[in-house]
Amino acid sequence: MRSKTWDAIIIGGGIIGVSLALELRHHGAQVLVVERGEPGREASHAGAGMLAALDPETPAALREMARVSAAKYPEFIAELKAESGMRIDFRRNGTIYLASAEIPCEGTELSAAEVKSLEPGLECSGYVAYLLAEDSVDPRELMAAALEAAKRRGVEIARGSPVTQLTIEADRVTGVRTTKTGFASPVVVNCCGAWAGEVAPITIPTRPVKGQLLSVVFPQRPQHGRSLEHVVRGESVYLVPRSDGRILIGATVEEAGFDKRVDTDVIQQLQQAAAILVPEIGEARIHDAWAGLRPGSPDGLPIMGKTSVGEYFAAAGHYRNGILLAPATAMVMSRIIRGADPEIDVSAFSPSRFPCDEHVAFRSA
Ligand code: GLY
Repeated sequence: MRSKTWDAIIIGGGIIGVSLALELRHHGAQVLVVERGEPGREASHAGAGMLAALDPETPAALREMARVSAAKYPEFIAELKAESGMRIDFRRNGTIYLASAEIPCEGTELSAAEVKSLEPGLECSGYVAYLLAEDSVDPRELMAAALEAAKRRGVEIARGSPVTQLTIEADRVTGVRTTKTGFASPVVVNCCGAWAGEVAPITIPTRPVKGQLLSVVFPQRPQHGRSLEHVVRGESVYLVPRSDGRILIGATVEEAGFDKRVDTDVIQQLQQAAAILVPEIGEARIHDAWAGLRPGSPDGLPIMGKTSVGEYFAAAGHYRNGILLAPATAMVMSRIIRGADPEIDVSAFSPSRFPCDEHVAFRSA
């Protein structure tokens, strides 16, 4: 009896892996997602959900992909909602971006009066404010809907043990081995985020970059009758409102290995930094605090495309933009895997820019 095979195995059940699984399934492939823990419980669970496609700090090489992905979001959300029957908090109110000086920026510069009329509770003196046409999403609701849609589309998920190595014959991948078992497929995609380097024998050089965040709620409505409506991105802190009244405040950027501990002093500092921008936040109650591990890469760009092993692909290293980049990554990777033109120039993200073999010791940037 022949053992079961899939058309594609995706290692990693975060938003990148599950979005790609949905896309490949849409094109008729039988797909298995192999997740070391619980799907969607790492970086996809920790992100604030800013879809920061117009951030002036986005590396130039990433801008086209960021814009394409942001433009895909309304349809991505509509499909996931329709297929899952679940709600997803997707907000289209824009971002107020605060810079310490005028900068080239694809937004509208706002006067102090305009800022006050948009966000009465925001103190922006000393900053140049820009309104950016960006959206935000609740990544936990997004992930839950994506997993439900994947289930309904017939994507299979194996959870609870990590992939430790590929199986390779004649320079082509034939499947994966986990700590417990093996799965066979002629196509494998590494979507393991910060853990992408742990699949032997190829080293996809991502590393964990810790971010701590908190959410706050107001016991009573703020004095001007409403909470924050826009995402606010300052230099040391960002604020992301949810439709249920919570405000998420992030985030630290820490080189701390795979440590996800939350430091209460750090959380207080984040709340204090947020209260400089929105003083009422100083009186708000902390609802939750958590940490996640962004998948950093040596040059800050994603690692996407073919590897040196035949039919083994990478889609990792999305660093601070994994939620934003999920729909475009799914499209591009599905096209590359199917041998089609990716439609976006992703040459800057090629895994071949790094020496990806098992002897490479990756150092933090
Ligand atoms: N995506 C926001 C952050 O990395 O903090």
